[in-house]
Amino acid sequence: MTTRILTGITTTGTPHLGNYAGAIRPAVVASRQPGVDSFYFLADYHALIKCDDPLRIQRSRLEIAATWLAAGLDPERVTFYRQSDIPEIPELTWLLTCVSAKGLLNRAHAYKASVDKNVEAGEDPDAGVTMGLYSYPVLMAADILMFNAHKIPVGRDQIQHVEMARDIAQRFNHLFGNGKDFFALPEALIEESVATLPGLDGRKMSKSYDNTIPLFSSPKELKDAISRIVTDSRAPGEAKDPDNSHLFTLYQAFSTPAQSAAFRAELLDGLGWGEAKARLFSLLDAELSGPREIYQGLIARPADLEDILLAGAQKARRIATPFLESLREAVGLRSFRSAVQAADTGKKKAAKAARFVSFREDDGSFRFRLLAADGEQLLLSHAFPDGKAAGAVSKQLQQGGELDIRPESDRFSLWLDGVCVGESPVYADTAARDLAIENLKSALAPQQD
Ligand code: TRP
Repeated sequence: MTTRILTGITTTGTPHLGNYAGAIRPAVVASRQPGVDSFYFLADYHALIKCDDPLRIQRSRLEIAATWLAAGLDPERVTFYRQSDIPEIPELTWLLTCVSAKGLLNRAHAYKASVDKNVEAGEDPDAGVTMGLYSYPVLMAADILMFNAHKIPVGRDQIQHVEMARDIAQRFNHLFGNGKDFFALPEALIEESVATLPGLDGRKMSKSYDNTIPLFSSPKELKDAISRIVTDSRAPGEAKDPDNSHLFTLYQAFSTPAQSAAFRAELLDGLGWGEAKARLFSLLDAELSGPREIYQGLIARPADLEDILLAGAQKARRIATPFLESLREAVGLRSFRSAVQAADTGKKKAAKAARFVSFREDDGSFRFRLLAADGEQLLLSHAFPDGKAAGAVSKQLQQGGELDIRPESDRFSLWLDGVCVGESPVYADTAARDLAIENLKSALAPQQD
């Protein structure tokens, strides 16, 4: 069974070395594993919650897209897209908003932190709190549930959001699933082994501490940043303590075990800090110079990046569009052309607009639905081992010919060459069943234009 992994990157800054080691590099490695189907996207709608500077939003989207590609993410292999290119996401957000308990969102850490701060300062509890911030977890739930992702690699601060996505999914399944789960229940994936890199001053590397090392800027800027790494005042020749040196921690995060063992021995042996910094620079520059060149190339050709991301959005929407359609149906946003009317207005019309919608099950198998012009489900196919097998059967059905339909009290099944290929829904009575059989026949009848 393939596992679907999905994660979003909020586009408000420029990635630094800490982001690279802590998130980007492990994600790129994970995306190459067999048996995973990964989705990476720029969470640019989320960025709007935190930032109202259009230039910064635009710049950051470009830089983050280029960074991930330069770091080796293969857009042919994974699905890489911008959240804001998928209109189904905000639409799903609304469907989910309508089943999300306000009490659940009241408990979100980010919102609570803002309220606590206001209360402490003697302000109105909701001062400066937008509905965007408040509803942040619902938008994130839509990101995840839109693609039925199973595993969500995130930092610890995001675990609560993934749990909320689970809660909201369960509620929707319960209300509208009718025995079938629309949404898989996602789980947060916390990479325990990935180190949080220390910054220049030894605290966690973070833009808010202004202690970052740049990722793909020039070698000179890399060298300058490294020269500002805080060390103790031991002179060259004096033994250094690698275990209490964040310079060593940084070195370790990018070296092989043999390299770091050698570096450790040199430090214990009295290597000067200036020399140690030069070693760290060559190590980092060796790893980053190739990707840096790719990055600069991508930034210089933003139109190419645009094409890559639009192709990614197209790939994502091949899943999102039919799925959202089935969710709209589920909540009652259906065409007014009822099954009865479709039958009345003549076979030709029904045949024209009937369609096959195929989808993948959690276990990796494929099915399709045959939907009538009005979106009513006429048939749900059996599971096929792959998309090709499912496609072959739906193609055969579309070619017309005598249909082997077998009524069974409140439902019917459809057979091809003596094999049952799908079932109808359950009908209230045999009259409704027979009407549905007529609809199915006219949907599959060859068009007579
Ligand atoms: N909220 C996440 C963060 O700040 C970004 C994000 C948005 C995300 N949507 C997501 C992460 C969906 C995982 C899945 O890090």
